[in-house]
Amino acid sequence: MPIRGATAISCPNIAFIKYWGNRNEKINLPENGSISMNLAELYTRTSVEFDLSLPADHLSINGKLASGPILKRVSDFLDNVRRLADISAYASVTSENNFPAGAGIASSASAFAALALSASTAAGLQLSEPELSRLARIGSGSACRSVPGGFAEWYAGESDESSYAVTIAPPDHWNLVDCIAVVSESHKPVGSADGHTLARTSPFQEARVTTAPGRIDRCRNAILARDFEAFAEVTELDSNMMHAVMMTSKPALLYWLPATLTVMQVVAAWRRKGIPAFYTIDAGPNVHVFCEENDAPTIFRRLTEIPGVSRVIIAHPGPAASLIDPACKEGG
Ligand code: PMV
Repeated sequence: MPIRGATAISCPNIAFIKYWGNRNEKINLPENGSISMNLAELYTRTSVEFDLSLPADHLSINGKLASGPILKRVSDFLDNVRRLADISAYASVTSENNFPAGAGIASSASAFAALALSASTAAGLQLSEPELSRLARIGSGSACRSVPGGFAEWYAGESDESSYAVTIAPPDHWNLVDCIAVVSESHKPVGSADGHTLARTSPFQEARVTTAPGRIDRCRNAILARDFEAFAEVTELDSNMMHAVMMTSKPALLYWLPATLTVMQVVAAWRRKGIPAFYTIDAGPNVHVFCEENDAPTIFRRLTEIPGVSRVIIAHPGPAASLIDPACKEGG
Protein backbone atom coordinates (compact mmCIF):
# COMPACT_ATOMS: atom_id res chain seq x y z
CA MET A 1 0.00 0.00 0.00
CA PRO A 2 1.44 3.42 -0.87
CA ILE A 3 1.52 6.12 1.82
CA ARG A 4 -1.96 7.62 2.05
CA GLY A 5 -2.61 10.87 3.86
CA ALA A 6 -5.28 13.44 4.66
CA THR A 7 -5.58 16.62 6.75
CA ALA A 8 -8.72 17.78 8.54
CA ILE A 9 -9.70 20.70 10.70
CA SER A 10 -12.35 20.79 13.41
CA CYS A 11 -13.65 23.24 16.02
CA PRO A 12 -14.21 22.34 19.67
CA ASN A 13 -17.78 22.73 20.89
CA ILE A 14 -19.42 24.01 24.06
CA ALA A 15 -22.45 22.17 25.41
CA PHE A 16 -25.63 24.00 26.46
CA ILE A 17 -27.22 20.72 27.58
CA LYS A 18 -24.37 18.64 28.98
CA TYR A 19 -23.20 15.08 28.46
CA TRP A 20 -22.02 13.60 31.77
CA GLY A 21 -22.07 9.84 32.29
CA ASN A 22 -22.17 6.86 29.91
CA ARG A 23 -24.45 3.86 29.55
CA ASN A 24 -21.69 2.10 27.65
CA GLU A 25 -18.18 3.36 28.34
CA LYS A 26 -16.50 1.31 25.64
CA ILE A 27 -18.25 3.16 22.82
CA ASN A 28 -19.36 6.28 24.74
CA LEU A 29 -23.11 5.75 24.60
CA PRO A 30 -24.28 8.65 26.76
CA GLU A 31 -26.87 8.52 29.51
CA ASN A 32 -28.63 11.54 28.00
CA GLY A 33 -28.74 13.53 24.78
CA SER A 34 -27.02 16.92 24.57
CA ILE A 35 -26.91 20.19 22.58
CA SER A 36 -23.86 22.30 21.70
CA MET A 37 -22.35 24.96 19.46
CA ASN A 38 -19.08 24.71 17.54
CA LEU A 39 -16.54 27.45 18.32
CA ALA A 40 -15.31 28.99 15.05
CA GLU A 41 -12.11 30.75 16.10
CA LEU A 42 -10.66 27.70 17.88
CA TYR A 43 -9.42 24.68 16.01
CA THR A 44 -7.51 21.43 15.91
CA ARG A 45 -5.75 20.63 12.66
CA THR A 46 -4.72 17.02 12.21
CA SER A 47 -2.82 15.18 9.47
CA VAL A 48 -2.75 11.38 9.24
CA GLU A 49 -0.58 9.21 7.01
CA PHE A 50 -0.87 5.42 6.96
CA ASP A 51 2.50 3.94 6.07
CA LEU A 52 3.32 0.21 5.91
CA SER A 53 6.94 0.90 6.77
CA LEU A 54 6.09 2.33 10.22
CA PRO A 55 6.80 -0.05 13.15
CA ALA A 56 4.07 1.56 15.32
CA ASP A 57 1.69 4.52 15.40
CA HIS A 58 3.45 7.83 15.84
CA LEU A 59 1.82 10.93 17.36
CA SER A 60 2.94 14.54 17.61
CA ILE A 61 0.76 17.16 19.38
CA ASN A 62 1.68 20.84 19.10
CA GLY A 63 5.18 19.88 17.95
CA LYS A 64 5.85 17.46 20.86
CA LEU A 65 6.12 13.68 20.53
CA ALA A 66 3.34 11.97 22.51
CA SER A 67 3.69 8.63 24.31
CA GLY A 68 2.00 6.70 27.15
CA PRO A 69 -1.78 6.92 27.69
CA ILE A 70 -2.33 9.67 25.06
CA LEU A 71 -0.60 7.65 22.33
CA LYS A 72 -2.49 4.52 23.43
CA ARG A 73 -5.84 6.34 23.25
CA VAL A 74 -5.11 7.52 19.69
CA SER A 75 -3.75 4.09 18.66
CA ASP A 76 -6.86 2.34 20.03
CA PHE A 77 -8.99 4.82 18.09
CA LEU A 78 -7.00 4.18 14.90
CA ASP A 79 -7.65 0.44 15.36
CA ASN A 80 -11.35 1.20 14.74
CA VAL A 81 -10.45 2.97 11.49
CA ARG A 82 -8.11 0.12 10.44
CA ARG A 83 -10.86 -2.40 11.16
CA LEU A 84 -13.46 -0.44 9.16
CA ALA A 85 -11.07 0.04 6.20
CA ASP A 86 -9.55 -3.44 6.47
CA ILE A 87 -5.96 -2.17 6.52
CA SER A 88 -3.09 -2.96 8.86
CA ALA A 89 -0.62 -0.08 8.36
CA TYR A 90 0.39 2.08 11.29
CA ALA A 91 -0.09 5.82 11.06
CA SER A 92 1.83 8.99 11.63
CA VAL A 93 -0.46 11.60 13.23
CA THR A 94 0.42 15.29 13.55
CA SER A 95 -1.99 17.51 15.45
CA GLU A 96 -2.05 21.15 16.46
CA ASN A 97 -4.49 23.21 18.59
CA ASN A 98 -4.65 27.00 18.71
CA PHE A 99 -6.15 27.02 22.25
CA PRO A 100 -5.21 25.67 25.71
CA ALA A 101 -5.90 21.94 26.12
CA GLY A 102 -7.39 20.42 29.25
CA ALA A 103 -8.87 23.57 30.80
CA GLY A 104 -12.56 23.23 30.07
CA ILE A 105 -12.37 24.13 26.39
CA ALA A 106 -13.06 20.70 25.01
CA SER A 107 -9.83 19.91 23.17
CA SER A 108 -10.71 16.21 22.99
CA ALA A 109 -13.84 17.07 20.97
CA SER A 110 -12.00 18.88 18.18
CA ALA A 111 -9.09 16.42 18.44
CA PHE A 112 -11.19 13.31 17.81
CA ALA A 113 -13.46 14.97 15.23
CA ALA A 114 -10.40 16.06 13.21
CA LEU A 115 -8.75 12.65 13.73
CA ALA A 116 -11.89 10.75 12.69
CA LEU A 117 -12.15 12.72 9.44
CA SER A 118 -8.44 12.73 8.53
CA ALA A 119 -7.82 9.08 9.49
CA SER A 120 -10.95 7.69 7.81
CA THR A 121 -10.16 9.64 4.62
CA ALA A 122 -6.49 8.60 4.66
CA ALA A 123 -7.64 4.98 5.09
CA GLY A 124 -9.76 5.27 1.94
CA LEU A 125 -13.16 5.35 3.68
CA GLN A 126 -15.90 7.75 2.60
CA LEU A 127 -18.14 8.05 5.64
CA SER A 128 -21.44 9.93 5.74
CA GLU A 129 -21.75 12.69 8.36
CA PRO A 130 -23.67 10.46 10.84
CA GLU A 131 -21.10 7.66 10.34
CA LEU A 132 -18.26 10.11 10.96
CA SER A 133 -20.03 11.49 14.03
CA ARG A 134 -20.38 7.93 15.41
CA LEU A 135 -16.70 7.22 14.77
CA ALA A 136 -15.62 10.47 16.50
CA ARG A 137 -17.89 9.58 19.46
CA ILE A 138 -15.87 6.44 20.12
CA GLY A 139 -12.73 8.61 20.60
CA SER A 140 -14.43 11.13 22.91
CA GLY A 141 -18.20 11.39 23.37
CA SER A 142 -18.49 15.13 22.81
CA ALA A 143 -16.40 14.84 19.60
CA CYS A 144 -19.48 13.55 17.78
CA ARG A 145 -20.98 17.07 18.15
CA SER A 146 -17.93 18.70 16.48
CA VAL A 147 -18.52 16.78 13.24
CA PRO A 148 -21.70 18.62 12.09
CA GLY A 149 -21.63 22.43 11.80
CA GLY A 150 -23.24 25.20 13.86
CA PHE A 151 -25.65 24.18 16.63
CA ALA A 152 -25.73 20.40 17.09
CA GLU A 153 -27.88 17.89 18.92
CA TRP A 154 -26.44 14.51 19.90
CA TYR A 155 -29.15 11.85 19.99
CA ALA A 156 -28.34 9.61 22.94
CA GLY A 157 -29.56 6.61 20.91
CA GLU A 158 -29.88 2.98 21.94
CA SER A 159 -26.87 1.59 20.13
CA ASP A 160 -23.75 2.56 18.20
CA GLU A 161 -25.87 3.07 15.05
CA SER A 162 -28.36 5.46 16.64
CA SER A 163 -26.02 7.61 18.79
CA TYR A 164 -24.72 10.54 16.69
CA ALA A 165 -25.05 14.31 16.31
CA VAL A 166 -26.82 16.42 13.68
CA THR A 167 -27.01 20.14 12.93
CA ILE A 168 -30.18 21.74 14.31
CA ALA A 169 -29.26 25.24 13.06
CA PRO A 170 -26.38 26.46 10.86
CA PRO A 171 -23.65 28.81 12.22
CA ASP A 172 -25.29 31.94 10.76
CA HIS A 173 -28.64 31.15 12.41
CA TRP A 174 -27.90 33.33 15.48
CA ASN A 175 -25.14 35.90 16.05
CA LEU A 176 -24.20 34.56 19.48
CA VAL A 177 -20.77 35.16 20.96
CA ASP A 178 -19.00 32.95 23.48
CA CYS A 179 -16.71 35.13 25.63
CA ILE A 180 -14.56 32.55 27.40
CA ALA A 181 -13.30 33.99 30.69
CA VAL A 182 -10.02 32.14 31.24
CA VAL A 183 -9.18 31.82 34.93
CA SER A 184 -6.67 28.96 34.55
CA GLU A 185 -4.78 27.40 31.65
CA SER A 186 -3.42 24.42 33.58
CA HIS A 187 -4.53 20.85 32.95
CA LYS A 188 -7.56 19.77 34.98
CA PRO A 189 -6.80 17.23 37.74
CA VAL A 190 -9.53 14.74 36.73
CA GLY A 191 -10.22 14.35 33.00
CA SER A 192 -13.75 13.88 31.68
CA ALA A 193 -13.16 10.19 30.88
CA ASP A 194 -12.79 9.44 34.62
CA GLY A 195 -15.51 11.96 35.46
CA HIS A 196 -18.09 10.10 33.35
CA THR A 197 -17.43 6.96 35.40
CA LEU A 198 -17.95 8.84 38.66
CA ALA A 199 -21.28 10.37 37.55
CA ARG A 200 -23.28 7.35 38.65
CA THR A 201 -21.96 7.66 42.22
CA SER A 202 -23.90 10.92 42.68
CA PRO A 203 -27.45 10.65 44.06
CA PHE A 204 -28.36 13.56 41.74
CA GLN A 205 -27.35 11.86 38.48
CA GLU A 206 -30.62 9.98 38.05
CA ALA A 207 -32.65 13.17 38.52
CA ARG A 208 -30.41 15.01 36.05
CA VAL A 209 -30.66 12.25 33.43
CA THR A 210 -34.41 11.66 33.69
CA THR A 211 -35.19 15.38 33.35
CA ALA A 212 -32.69 15.97 30.50
CA PRO A 213 -35.19 15.35 27.62
CA GLY A 214 -37.35 18.27 28.84
CA ARG A 215 -34.32 20.60 28.96
CA ILE A 216 -33.22 19.42 25.51
CA ASP A 217 -36.63 20.36 24.07
CA ARG A 218 -36.56 23.77 25.80
CA CYS A 219 -33.01 24.45 24.63
CA ARG A 220 -33.66 23.35 21.01
CA ASN A 221 -36.84 25.47 20.88
CA ALA A 222 -35.04 28.50 22.37
CA ILE A 223 -32.24 28.21 19.79
CA LEU A 224 -34.68 27.80 16.88
CA ALA A 225 -36.77 30.79 18.10
CA ARG A 226 -33.65 32.83 19.04
CA ASP A 227 -35.25 33.32 22.47
CA PHE A 228 -32.27 34.53 24.52
CA GLU A 229 -34.03 34.64 27.90
CA ALA A 230 -35.37 31.06 27.65
CA PHE A 231 -32.00 29.89 26.30
CA ALA A 232 -30.13 31.56 29.19
CA GLU A 233 -32.40 30.01 31.81
CA VAL A 234 -32.21 26.41 30.59
CA THR A 235 -28.47 26.53 29.83
CA GLU A 236 -27.45 27.89 33.24
CA LEU A 237 -29.75 25.39 34.94
CA ASP A 238 -28.23 22.48 33.02
CA SER A 239 -24.66 23.59 33.76
CA ASN A 240 -25.48 23.95 37.46
CA MET A 241 -27.09 20.49 37.46
CA MET A 242 -24.01 18.86 35.94
CA HIS A 243 -21.74 20.59 38.47
CA ALA A 244 -24.07 19.52 41.30
CA VAL A 245 -23.57 15.91 40.11
CA MET A 246 -19.80 16.43 39.94
CA MET A 247 -19.63 17.93 43.44
CA THR A 248 -21.72 15.10 44.92
CA SER A 249 -19.96 12.15 43.28
CA LYS A 250 -17.58 9.90 45.20
CA PRO A 251 -14.87 11.18 45.25
CA ALA A 252 -16.29 14.69 44.75
CA LEU A 253 -15.17 16.68 41.73
CA LEU A 254 -14.93 20.43 42.15
CA TYR A 255 -13.65 22.08 38.98
CA TRP A 256 -14.32 25.69 40.03
CA LEU A 257 -11.75 28.18 41.27
CA PRO A 258 -12.69 31.29 43.30
CA ALA A 259 -12.64 33.39 40.10
CA THR A 260 -15.06 30.91 38.44
CA LEU A 261 -17.67 31.68 41.09
CA THR A 262 -16.99 35.43 40.85
CA VAL A 263 -17.73 35.35 37.09
CA MET A 264 -20.90 33.28 37.65
CA GLN A 265 -22.21 35.76 40.21
CA VAL A 266 -21.28 38.82 38.17
CA VAL A 267 -23.01 37.43 35.04
CA ALA A 268 -26.18 36.57 37.00
CA ALA A 269 -26.20 40.13 38.43
CA TRP A 270 -25.77 41.63 34.92
CA ARG A 271 -28.81 39.68 33.73
CA ARG A 272 -30.90 40.89 36.66
CA LYS A 273 -29.96 44.45 35.60
CA GLY A 274 -31.09 43.76 32.02
CA ILE A 275 -27.70 42.99 30.41
CA PRO A 276 -28.40 39.83 28.38
CA ALA A 277 -25.64 37.35 29.20
CA PHE A 278 -25.46 33.88 30.73
CA TYR A 279 -22.77 31.37 31.70
CA THR A 280 -22.06 27.71 31.17
CA ILE A 281 -19.06 25.72 32.47
CA ASP A 282 -17.59 22.41 31.28
CA ALA A 283 -15.22 20.11 33.19
CA GLY A 284 -12.80 22.89 34.08
CA PRO A 285 -12.66 26.28 35.82
CA ASN A 286 -13.13 28.58 32.80
CA VAL A 287 -16.48 30.26 32.26
CA HIS A 288 -18.18 30.49 28.87
CA VAL A 289 -20.22 33.71 28.92
CA PHE A 290 -22.75 34.01 26.09
CA CYS A 291 -24.26 37.18 24.66
CA GLU A 292 -25.41 38.52 21.32
CA GLU A 293 -22.97 40.28 18.97
CA ASN A 294 -24.14 43.85 19.87
CA ASP A 295 -23.37 43.31 23.56
CA ALA A 296 -20.06 41.47 23.02
CA PRO A 297 -17.67 44.50 23.23
CA THR A 298 -19.17 45.56 26.61
CA ILE A 299 -19.25 42.02 28.01
CA PHE A 300 -15.68 41.40 26.80
CA ARG A 301 -14.38 44.58 28.48
CA ARG A 302 -16.24 43.93 31.73
CA LEU A 303 -15.00 40.33 31.91
CA THR A 304 -11.37 41.39 31.44
CA GLU A 305 -11.78 43.74 34.44
CA ILE A 306 -12.75 40.91 36.83
CA PRO A 307 -9.87 39.96 39.19
CA GLY A 308 -8.64 36.45 38.40
CA VAL A 309 -9.65 36.53 34.71
CA SER A 310 -6.34 36.32 32.84
CA ARG A 311 -7.79 36.73 29.35
CA VAL A 312 -11.03 36.45 27.40
CA ILE A 313 -11.22 34.34 24.24
CA ILE A 314 -13.97 35.22 21.75
CA ALA A 315 -15.69 32.55 19.65
CA HIS A 316 -18.65 32.63 17.24
CA PRO A 317 -20.76 29.72 15.96
CA GLY A 318 -18.42 27.48 13.95
CA PRO A 319 -18.53 25.24 10.90
CA ALA A 320 -18.50 21.47 10.48
CA ALA A 321 -15.28 19.46 10.50
CA SER A 322 -13.72 19.56 7.03
CA LEU A 323 -10.84 18.29 4.97
CA ILE A 324 -8.19 20.84 4.04
CA ASP A 325 -5.20 21.08 1.78
CA PRO A 326 -2.19 20.06 3.96
CA ALA A 327 -0.21 22.99 2.53
CA CYS A 328 -2.69 25.38 4.17
CA LYS A 329 -1.08 26.64 7.39
CA GLU A 330 -4.01 28.61 8.81
CA GLY A 331 -7.13 27.40 10.60
CA GLY A 332 -9.86 28.50 8.23
O1 PMV B 1 -16.29 14.13 25.47
P1 PMV B 1 -15.79 14.21 26.85
O2 PMV B 1 -15.51 12.86 27.45
O3 PMV B 1 -14.58 15.14 26.93
O4 PMV B 1 -16.93 14.83 27.80
C1 PMV B 1 -17.31 16.18 27.75
C2 PMV B 1 -18.04 16.52 28.99
C3 PMV B 1 -18.41 17.99 29.15
O5 PMV B 1 -17.59 18.82 28.38
C4 PMV B 1 -18.24 18.37 30.61
C5 PMV B 1 -19.89 18.21 28.79
C6 PMV B 1 -20.21 18.20 27.33
O6 PMV B 1 -21.35 17.82 27.00
O7 PMV B 1 -19.37 18.60 26.49
